[in-house]
Amino acid sequence: MTKVAIWCRHKDDNVIGIGADIPWKVPSDAKKFWQMVAERQIVCGRKTYLSFPQKCLQRQEIIVVTKDENFEVFDEKKHLRVSDLKVFKNWDKDLYIAGGAQIYNAFVAGGVEKLMPEIIVDCVYVGDMLPNLQGEKADISDSIAVMEKKYRQISNTYELDNVLTRIFVRKGEFVDQGVLKHLLNVIENQGQKVVEL
Ligand SMILES: NC(=O)c1ccc[n+]([C@@H]2O[C@H](COP(=O)([O-])OP(=O)(O)OC[C@H]3O[C@@H](n4cnc5c(N)ncnc54)[C@H](OP(=O)(O)O)[C@@H]3O)[C@@H](O)[C@H]2O)c1
Repeated sequence: MTKVAIWCRHKDDNVIGIGADIPWKVPSDAKKFWQMVAERQIVCGRKTYLSFPQKCLQRQEIIVVTKDENFEVFDEKKHLRVSDLKVFKNWDKDLYIAGGAQIYNAFVAGGVEKLMPEIIVDCVYVGDMLPNLQGEKADISDSIAVMEKKYRQISNTYELDNVLTRIFVRKGEFVDQGVLKHLLNVIENQGQKVVEL
């Protein structure tokens, strides 16, 4: 099944978070994310899970990754806790990888690649934020380095509210066309404009 990572990073230093939070407020970017994953399964780390807004948690199917066996999910009907990434080797649904840095780095960058090529992400939906940030930073430089080497851009670059978005797929891998179409629909329905870099 197809695995799609979705992230928005600060372009100059690959920062995706400061402390527990996403350090920018761009409502259209948040809306785009929740539209993209609506009625789909997302995977996130325990820290990102705890940072999601309550109203989004309530409707979203989420797999939260934590080694804490006592960790309690908010909604046992919709949310599942897993402690070992190996469970994703034979997952039978498309997965949307929603962060944070540890989880992107596990699914995209080297850490698991040699052991479990089956769980490596097929496709990355990238948002590039332009403004600079201050504070304690979580960065995904490892994932960006792998993406630049092993993935190729297959969409135009779009812009909305100072966020540049584009889609990458892993070189040599088949990516489900339905998934790609879905990602592009979300971008285009928002009226994002194609830009030249
Ligand atoms: N801009 C974006 O697109 C975006 C998206 C998502 C998140 N973020 C930001 O990213 C930051 C959080 O990232 P983060 O890296 O600190 O935390 P994270 O990836 O959300 O969660 C880390 C936790 O996940 C669990 N975990 C990670 N790898 C695991 C493994 N291999 N096996 C089992 N459990 C594992 C551990 O939980 P336990 O400690 O409980 O074992 C670990 O402490 C926040 O600032 C958030 O706002 C940004």
